[in-house]
Amino acid sequence: MYKDLRYNELSKEMLEQLEKGAFLTTKVKDKINTMTIAWGGINYVWGKPVFVTYVRYSRDTYEMMENGQEYTINVPLNNNLKKELGFCGTKSGRDYDKINECGFTLLEGRTIKTPVIAECELHFECKIIYKQAMEPGMIPKEIKERYYSNNDYHVIYYGEITDSYLLKGE
Ligand SMILES: Cc1cc2nc3c(=O)[nH]c(=O)nc-3n(C[C@H](O)[C@H](O)[C@H](O)COP(=O)(O)O)c2cc1C
Repeated sequence: MYKDLRYNELSKEMLEQLEKGAFLTTKVKDKINTMTIAWGGINYVWGKPVFVTYVRYSRDTYEMMENGQEYTINVPLNNNLKKELGFCGTKSGRDYDKINECGFTLLEGRTIKTPVIAECELHFECKIIYKQAMEPGMIPKEIKERYYSNNDYHVIYYGEITDSYLLKGE
């Protein structure tokens, strides 16, 4: 059952879960992948709500984002799906069909072609409207040393939120 939400309605719950992990799901042709994210959040820019997400170049998801132009953010609430967040945060879509391995059920997106994971409660459908490669010269030295010693920087994606809703069991 769908419960429509305004994009910012469950921001507190979303941010509390995001630091533990949420799923970033992508689709290119017949391939669907999902990876765990903890960085990002909702911005308001150009008169639009956007879900911003940070993806390193090394991720299979990076290739998917470059070729797909859209994504869904799937947030488990109540601290659910810990095992699956661990799996999707350590294994790559290059080596595993993570959706299948986790036994996830996919539901079609309502406004985009990328599906959502039915086992999660809160969902955002997003169309990429901007992206930005991190500028290494702008990153403080201590952060660079801690996070980017291998030069695997993040690309920052801005996905316009085209739909947001809760999925609840019958
Ligand atoms: C809790 C948690 C949060 C993570 N957050 C991010 C993130 O925000 N951005 C990122 O690029 N990788 C993040 N990762 C790592 C990716 O999820 C991981 O490298 C994953 O295997 C990439 O999958 P892919 O190659 O199928 O895209 C996180 C991992 C965990 C466990």
